[in-house]
Amino acid sequence: RNDGRSQTLKILPDGSRPELVFATPSGRAIFHPRPHVNPEEMPDEHFPFTLNTGRLQHQWHTLTKTGKIATLNKLNPGPFVELHPEDAAELGIRNRDSVMVRSRRGEAVLPAVVTDRVLPGSCFAPFHWNDLYGDKLAVNAVTSDRIDPISQQPELKVCAVSLERVEVIASDAADGVGRSKANLEEVREGGEHATGLAFAPVAEATSRSLIRQFAETVGVSAVAAPSFSPAETAYLSGFVSGLDSSAGHISAIPALPVDAPVAPEHRLWLNGMLAGMFSRVLPLGLMTDLEVTTDKSKPSITLLWASQTGNAEALAEGFATQLRERGWQVKLQSMNDYAVSQLAQDQRALFVTSTFGDGDAPDNGGDFWAQLQEEDVSLAQLEFGLLALGDSNYDQFCGHGKKLFTRLQDLGARPLLDRVDCDTDYAQPAEKWFTELLARLATDGPASKSASTTVSPTKTTTYTKTNPFAAKLVINRKLNGDGSSKDVRLFGFDLDGSGLTYQAGDALGVWPKNCPGYVFELQQALNFNADTPVLVDNREKPLELALLENFEICRPTPEAVQFIAERSASPALKALLQVEQKEELQDWLYGRQLVDILHEFPIRCSVEEWLNLLKRIQPRLYSIASSSALFPHQVHLTVSAVRYTRYSDGKKTRKGVCSTFLADRCEDVAAPIFIQPSKHFHVPEDGDAPLIMVGPGTGIAPFRGFLQERQARGHKGKNWLFFGEQHAATDFYYRDDILQWHKEGLLNELSLAFSRDQARKIYVQDRMREQGEKIWHWLEEGAYFCVCGDASRMAKDVDQALREIVREYGKFDEVETVNYLRKLNMSKRYLRDVY
Ligand code: FDA
Repeated sequence: RNDGRSQTLKILPDGSRPELVFATPSGRAIFHPRPHVNPEEMPDEHFPFTLNTGRLQHQWHTLTKTGKIATLNKLNPGPFVELHPEDAAELGIRNRDSVMVRSRRGEAVLPAVVTDRVLPGSCFAPFHWNDLYGDKLAVNAVTSDRIDPISQQPELKVCAVSLERVEVIASDAADGVGRSKANLEEVREGGEHATGLAFAPVAEATSRSLIRQFAETVGVSAVAAPSFSPAETAYLSGFVSGLDSSAGHISAIPALPVDAPVAPEHRLWLNGMLAGMFSRVLPLGLMTDLEVTTDKSKPSITLLWASQTGNAEALAEGFATQLRERGWQVKLQSMNDYAVSQLAQDQRALFVTSTFGDGDAPDNGGDFWAQLQEEDVSLAQLEFGLLALGDSNYDQFCGHGKKLFTRLQDLGARPLLDRVDCDTDYAQPAEKWFTELLARLATDGPASKSASTTVSPTKTTTYTKTNPFAAKLVINRKLNGDGSSKDVRLFGFDLDGSGLTYQAGDALGVWPKNCPGYVFELQQALNFNADTPVLVDNREKPLELALLENFEICRPTPEAVQFIAERSASPALKALLQVEQKEELQDWLYGRQLVDILHEFPIRCSVEEWLNLLKRIQPRLYSIASSSALFPHQVHLTVSAVRYTRYSDGKKTRKGVCSTFLADRCEDVAAPIFIQPSKHFHVPEDGDAPLIMVGPGTGIAPFRGFLQERQARGHKGKNWLFFGEQHAATDFYYRDDILQWHKEGLLNELSLAFSRDQARKIYVQDRMREQGEKIWHWLEEGAYFCVCGDASRMAKDVDQALREIVREYGKFDEVETVNYLRKLNMSKRYLRDVY
């Protein structure tokens, strides 16, 4: 770590400080070449052949033993051992015979590929198959476990073996392998040179279980083959004859043409089946686009987003629409829904991502990011653009976007334009990035080569973030009883006349106004005149109004703190701003608002200087706490009013902007609101699916909406709610509704955790652990698992408890547990709305 502690701090000529450097003068790693050294073990009379297990670096990369690396699987879709024709003749071995490869350590049984790619006396087997795919396929049972004394790396590549033809490959695979051979025989005829491409590597039982899992996950396990009309049958029999006659030359996935006299849904099914049969047996580079409806006359682009609160997603959707209007074919997907192996085939891709937590990927980008890190894939064919969203108040500002950009470049992809990191006020920089992107794409662009590349403002058809609806607050009810330390409220807005619609699970955006008392205090601290005219969005208004409506005046930004440190010439504040004081600075800032810092370090500056430092005020999002089925003309929220006391500062009370705007100052003014739709965080479409909801504190909000919705829709699926707060007597929000739902049976299970009602603190994750076995059974019955509320602690603790439950009751090891949760996530059954 380039922190100046363990080594000299490295500052690059442009002034930047890379986070990681090697402890060398250049900061880069140095490669020290060494002379060739013979392997320890050379052939002898008992083991007369030299086995090489690494022709390409991929083939002996340890990460590849899992068989999960898509490019490798295409390179060597199955295990094999290559041996020279002379040796093969002497040993009586023919192509695809089973060969026992034996060394002093162990043995593997692999299908033979007879080829002069290897020299007489040697043989080659790729290293990356393990016993998960069948008995005795793992070459590392055979290879030497010696290590090189200097690098400490295993000497994997060469050892001495004997070769012998044997009858059986794997007991449970005999039938499946035999059948695979028969199927593939046709494809392999025609002189394809022997690289062992087309041998089914996976034992049939394993394959079938994986296929079943896949079918269940995508919800097609019960779908049968369509029945074809006589005309379709006639066409298909001709198609099969055609395939038959060209069987020796098939080098791409066969597909029915778009104009085939076959119903579109039948064509889709048939093309899917052909892809399923042929895609695994074709060598890398010869695959065609599965999407046969693709219009080849249009250039295509992949647009991937990862979004926690929907901003990145909405931007990506807007970009996709504009690109389509300009004639592009756009593949728009969340990152997790896109495989890195697919990306390795794309020519152009755009990425729009926000950052979550500590520089991490948003939930719907985490798996993609993990794949991108694990996979040893080349993206040299790819040109890309990346737009990062973030909040500069956080340390890892746009952290995920930055990491993704670097990783894509490391894998060989070339940026079409510079990455842009957008702060909370992202609309303009995002638009600028997109305009520049269009200019870069214009040379490739479709019809509109000469078309203007200026982004046309999206036509507003409804109320949106930039065109919010002025809504009247009609409910403001405190949900805590007397004596509670919390101030959580139910708010209701009247939607009449707005045309706004929502689904339980969406969020409501609220544009707040600052507290007049804080505006006054700030003007006093800086000695500003409230009436000073200022320009905001080309409109003149008094300073006081601009501070009330347009600027974020409470949260200290790094630029503002830096400015105050310089103007006040305070050594103490300057010292806090040193890089190595980051944590101390954060602790010091926690709970301090800008005006608090100004009181401690008074400065003088012009109004213009000050406004240039401030960010634009941003809307806050709140999880919708009602169902439109029950409240078509209202939208409800459950909001905790942020109020806190700083004891270190003479018991000064401070408050959050928006939550207290709603609680204290919203009743007589219309509040600008908009709906922020959520893509997946909704009640399951399948009304019979069980639903587990974990929503402590204000996290209860969406689940009130979910339960209202399931009741209104007459869904019969079981429901289980985990709720928690400090005290049952004062903090059991929606107590009457919840107990009634439990009594009526809408809520089949109710687990409550009031942390401070007993000596030992009990949280929802503790309740989950107590009920682990039942949760596991619900999951196995297809339950959806939804979490809402605090991201910093609760969501992590709940995730951990869920992992433990899956591991214990599923009887899984670590890898299987991760895969189970990944599957849950990918099938959109593990959903989170955390903040
Ligand atoms: P503001 O943003 O002005 O201030 C918050 C800051 O105050 C904190 O960052 C911290 O620095 C400081 N602070 C807070 N407590 C402090 C303490 N005890 N000591 C010292 N400093 C402290 N909220 C909710 O109540 N119900 C909901 O349903 C949802 N749903 C939701 C969904 C989604 C998708 C998101 C992204 C967020 C939510 N939120 C929420 C959170 C909500 O958007 C908002 O962040 C909070 O209401 C706080 O906003 P304010 O403008 O009131 O505080």
